[in-house]
Amino acid sequence: MGVRSAQLVANRMADGGQRLDMLPSWLCRGRAQWHYLPKRGLSWSPRQISRWNKQESNDPPPPESPRVLITGGLGQLGVGLAQLLRKQYGTDNVILSDIKKPPVEVFNSGPFVYADVLDYKNLRELVVNNRITWLVHYSALLSAVGEANVALARKINITGLHNVLDLALENCLRLFVPSTIGAFGPSSPRDPAPDLCVQRPRTIYGVSKVHGELMGEYLHHKYGLDFRCLRYPGIISANTQPGGGTTDYAVQIFHDALSSGHFECYLRADTRLPMMHISDCHRATVEFMQAPDCQLSLRTYNIAAMSFTPEEVAEEIRKHLPNLRVTYNPDFVRQTIADSWPMRFDDSNAQRDWGWKPAYGLAELVIDMLESIREQRTKAGLPVS
Ligand SMILES: NC(=O)c1ccc[n+]([C@@H]2O[C@H](COP(=O)([O-])OP(=O)(O)OC[C@H]3O[C@@H](n4cnc5c(N)ncnc54)[C@H](O)[C@@H]3O)[C@@H](O)[C@H]2O)c1
Repeated sequence: MGVRSAQLVANRMADGGQRLDMLPSWLCRGRAQWHYLPKRGLSWSPRQISRWNKQESNDPPPPESPRVLITGGLGQLGVGLAQLLRKQYGTDNVILSDIKKPPVEVFNSGPFVYADVLDYKNLRELVVNNRITWLVHYSALLSAVGEANVALARKINITGLHNVLDLALENCLRLFVPSTIGAFGPSSPRDPAPDLCVQRPRTIYGVSKVHGELMGEYLHHKYGLDFRCLRYPGIISANTQPGGGTTDYAVQIFHDALSSGHFECYLRADTRLPMMHISDCHRATVEFMQAPDCQLSLRTYNIAAMSFTPEEVAEEIRKHLPNLRVTYNPDFVRQTIADSWPMRFDDSNAQRDWGWKPAYGLAELVIDMLESIREQRTKAGLPVS
């Protein structure tokens, strides 16, 4: 492919309408791309071109911060990740987006835009106009909610993902898509589940996440897309509510322990699942996004921190609140899902390749959750048991 044909493809894409099926195979291959493409890339504005000209002087160019867009950013995980990224790269360089109206404190804390992942043109406009370089794709319907609305889950989790993959490829973005313990199924090794093994999930959530892992890796190998994916365990947070997954009980138990002293669990007492404190999840995501490409032997990694049953977390909470009472009333759908998921994750590849190490174990997690929720309740003038 010569420079002239590369220019023609680039022009067609700039005209709009160019989608994945028309992309040449060298498009996102870092070095090859800069070798073949003319210096004016696909969506560069005149202001950016003049910057490029400045770089031709003898002065070294100032290092540019990533410009990050987070989709589905108003769920359990997006706001905290935006805070961490904004600390490192500046508030204006990290844009949160969702289809929901943001709470006032989120709206006032940094850039927020409406973005529906099913609206490809709107997403493209956001990426181009804001010179986005990293895309964190958080929009999804989670496991339990997805089973209750399979058609919508398929749309958001699969069609939405395709939009984001096309966009990342067209604009040479670094793309982060989280996966989950739900990407494994009953025929996967469960204790521990390694990075590479049989994956036959039995939920639409799991099926869509395996699809995401495979599509991202395919586009990485074929076109050089900088696709990065972590399989998160169940994430536990005090300040944000979980969005309808199977591990949500591990957040609710802390709220109920401090409000009524009684928690009714929808899983059996001995259901063991991998879990992680939200700050470890955010740190893992940022460290992984920052890891040099050459250090990554995989594009999809398990990350682990701890693994516990409802009985074990209740026992740990009782060290601080001895009167906590827990009853068990297993919900058929969520119990069946949990029984098909890994009990533990093997994350040795993440440890070896990019130095992953969690900070929170079960004891530290329980102390932090109780302290944070106690503080919230006290501030809100609510009783604390
Ligand atoms: N929270 C966990 O325990 C966990 C564990 C494993 C993986 N993950 C993954 O991490 C990501 C974020 O998880 P979360 O817990 O914050 O999810 P969440 O359910 O709390 O939030 C998802 C967000 O997506 C938004 N959304 C829905 N439809 C949309 C659309 N059409 N366009 C744009 N946004 C839309 C929702 O409004 C919501 O704010 C998800 O991809 C999830 O699969 C989460």
